[in-house]
Amino acid sequence: MFNISKIRKDFPILKRKINGKPLVYLDNAATTQKPQTVIDSLVDYYTYHNANIHRGIHTLAEEATAMHEEARSKIAKFIGAKSTKEIVFVRNSTEAINLVAYSWGRSFLKKGDAIILSESEHHSNIVPWQILAKEKKIKLYFIPVKDDGKLDLDYFKKIFTPQVKLVSLVHISNVLGTINPVEEIGELAHEVGALFLVDAAQSVPRMPVNVRKLDCDFLAVSGHKMLGPTGIGFLYAKEEILSSMPPFLGGGDMIREVYLDHSEWNELPFKFEAGTPNIADAIALGTAVDYLEKIGMENIFRHEKKLTDFALRRLGKLSYLSIYGPKTVENKTGVISFSVKGIHPHDVAQLLDQEAVAIRSGFHCAMPLHQKLQMPSTCRASFYVYNTTEDIDRLVEGLDKAVKIFQ
Ligand SMILES: Cc1ncc(COP(=O)(O)O)c(C=O)c1O
Repeated sequence: MFNISKIRKDFPILKRKINGKPLVYLDNAATTQKPQTVIDSLVDYYTYHNANIHRGIHTLAEEATAMHEEARSKIAKFIGAKSTKEIVFVRNSTEAINLVAYSWGRSFLKKGDAIILSESEHHSNIVPWQILAKEKKIKLYFIPVKDDGKLDLDYFKKIFTPQVKLVSLVHISNVLGTINPVEEIGELAHEVGALFLVDAAQSVPRMPVNVRKLDCDFLAVSGHKMLGPTGIGFLYAKEEILSSMPPFLGGGDMIREVYLDHSEWNELPFKFEAGTPNIADAIALGTAVDYLEKIGMENIFRHEKKLTDFALRRLGKLSYLSIYGPKTVENKTGVISFSVKGIHPHDVAQLLDQEAVAIRSGFHCAMPLHQKLQMPSTCRASFYVYNTTEDIDRLVEGLDKAVKIFQ
């Protein structure tokens, strides 16, 4: 059962007042708030179990290791991975994509090869490939985004050549909320023998995602966008592909044996986890997964769709406001970018903050998309499991007030 008032009570920060008014947090695409269970999980780990993992044989080390590996199992099950060997802990989606670019890209790509991205990518799925492209002299192609925020798949089919070795694509746009048809695109990628990477930073938190159903080769996720702490995320990769890749970073834990002239690598996934990992945050991410599963990803997705539909209708009636991307909830979820006529987005965000409504303003780490759609910097409201239609009413009231002040 989806009980919104019960859910809201789980998030202590939602009791906060800003400028004397109850907080309305609509910056969830940037990072989400944390339920008490996740906060408690961090305190519990440091209070009772803290030790380094995989090495010690004392009780604390064994407890910490078991808790860390249990978190990995929860994540593997959550996204439908075949085994925990396919889950590599990293800091965030950005690091997950960089790991693939550095390890897989540098080993398997050669001059003349190509990678397909899209114009709607977050910078974290553009810049690592630009660095690689320059170094290896490979080509980058970008699937165009149409005015309605959808990808131009006809063009995509035209740029598909045997030189394409990877398609790396955002699942849900962090600017427009568009849900891209990743299953269809993955199938096309595999038809020409290319691998398929899904940037799932916005999708894994808000909809059911199953890597086997998607049949992606890599999936990048940030824990802090799905109720977990900052500084922890994961890369999913098919076991056979991870096995073929060289290590990304070298050091302790990622080796089986070290000699002065060479080293032998540890088994998966530890081969990709050099040094002491972020133990406490990984465990707390496992707790976040428990929380999401208890509510149910289908329920979370449905709730967010309802809020998005409500928000699109409410915001759509404001004559001073332009919404970018899809105007209906079909193939879209709870991320809405907009501009207010005659007011700079930073001023809108600041005036809303006076009303305790937290939104984002700027380019949202997606400058090429803003350039393509000729959008100046924008305001972005993004929803999550604890938001309500009353929060959207407060957003609209705040916007009305901002417009009056500027008139
Ligand atoms: C679609 C998308 N990809 C990647 C990222 C990068 O996430 P992080 O900064 O946690 O690495 C973000 C963050 O906003 C995002 O929205």
